[in-house]
Amino acid sequence: MTAVGIDAIEIRTGKLRLDLPNTFAPKKGEDPEKYTKGLGLEASSFPDVYEDIVTMGANAAKRLMDRKGIAPEDVGRIDVATESAFDHAKPVSTYIAGCLEQVYDGDFRHANKGERKFACVAGTQAIDDAYNWIRAGRNRGRSALVIATDTALYERGDPGEATQGAGAVAMLVDEDPSIVELSTDQGYGSMDETDFLKPNQQFPSVDGKRSVQVYLSRMREALEDYEAVAGPVGVEDVSYAPFHTPFPGMVRKAGLFAYRHITRDSPVEDEIAAAIGRRQPREDEYDSREAYEEAIREYMDELKGAEQYREWYAETIEPTLELSRVVGNWYTGSVHLARASALRHAAARGLDSEFVGRRLLVGSYGSGAQAEIHAETVRDGWREEIEALDIDDQLESRYDLAFEEYEQVHDVHDFDKSVEVEELTAPEAEFVFTGWGRMNERTYEYVE
Ligand code: CAA
Repeated sequence: MTAVGIDAIEIRTGKLRLDLPNTFAPKKGEDPEKYTKGLGLEASSFPDVYEDIVTMGANAAKRLMDRKGIAPEDVGRIDVATESAFDHAKPVSTYIAGCLEQVYDGDFRHANKGERKFACVAGTQAIDDAYNWIRAGRNRGRSALVIATDTALYERGDPGEATQGAGAVAMLVDEDPSIVELSTDQGYGSMDETDFLKPNQQFPSVDGKRSVQVYLSRMREALEDYEAVAGPVGVEDVSYAPFHTPFPGMVRKAGLFAYRHITRDSPVEDEIAAAIGRRQPREDEYDSREAYEEAIREYMDELKGAEQYREWYAETIEPTLELSRVVGNWYTGSVHLARASALRHAAARGLDSEFVGRRLLVGSYGSGAQAEIHAETVRDGWREEIEALDIDDQLESRYDLAFEEYEQVHDVHDFDKSVEVEELTAPEAEFVFTGWGRMNERTYEYVE
């Protein structure tokens, strides 16, 4: 069976940066370590006044097409995943295609375009759609452009405000891919939940504490479902585990649960037991559910400090969080940023051909709620593709916001407000938002 997977990736961050410990924390009267140590965040990315989900997505897609030498006719579908859409009928993919058609000779007239919605898991679902379309033989040799783009803003004063972010990840899904092959095996954990939602409103209604629990529960179910088809996952099987990262502290919790799960009944559990003096609690050893849960909490507290766990976390999870830590939550793009972060780390460690064939265990999550787990196998073009990313330069050249500027930028991107704010950076060789057309559509142009 021909391999299908991700052939190219481009990342586009919003051009503004909010420093959380130094700029945000003092204004909130909070200890900076709540952000750096608790949530695990240093900074958030924001869009400048001329940026939005369309410009970030189109700019990422253009760089991808230029770098790979792809013409519009080579693309058979454009799927955009977002939870920041501004149009209930016309999908964001048509706006992005319109932008790209301004700069290429050809057009996307015969490409299937759509928009995927299921909170943050939609980016992974869009990849699934592309994968299935190729596997079904409907692609006519063409590839799929999947773009996960979001402006993850919360109401001012909401606890989620600290986890905001903005950016896009464009991915080319194709046969014989350069970066990773996707597994056919998948696991799902899906339930009707009201943890985070936007019922006809721009900023989310969030039950933050509950959302953390729902994330963990659905992720566990997805892992169990994945193992039911793919077989048990062992510590040695996985080089990196990129998870959806609303903030790195969330993945720190998920990583601990995942480790407990994959080491249960394995020799690693015995090794840890030798170090901390106890094996994992089993429910049938306790008289009540409460007593069992209490024993689990105690075990997890000790597991956190075990050398085996700390090493695994440092090698398998921590590297996936490097980008997220400095840009915040990108919703649909977040897990794809985590994958890129892991691969970037592997390249920085000097890995090359010995990394080919290694496995990533990818955990996506969308509020509402659904988790999905699948595996990815590293392909031999991975290093060249990852080294072509310019995300470090983009991060370096972000404009540092003063708190008052942050307040204005938040207002600019608030659909209910109409404020005039000067741009803080100068656009160059990119798509920009220019205003509204006669039918209230948003308009864009490419500036040299
Ligand atoms: N030093 C070190 N750590 C500190 C600290 C300090 N001075 N002060 C606080 N902390 C720690 C806390 O102990 C806590 O860590 P633990 O959970 O490990 O105990 C962490 O920092 C956060 O502190 P709080 O829980 O007090 O923070 P909060 O209540 O202000 O907000 C939140 C946390 C509820 C998650 C909030 O950020 C939020 O609502 N976020 C949006 C929802 C979200 O991201 N949910 C995640 C799952 S849902 C999802 O994944 C979908 C999605 O993308 C939105």
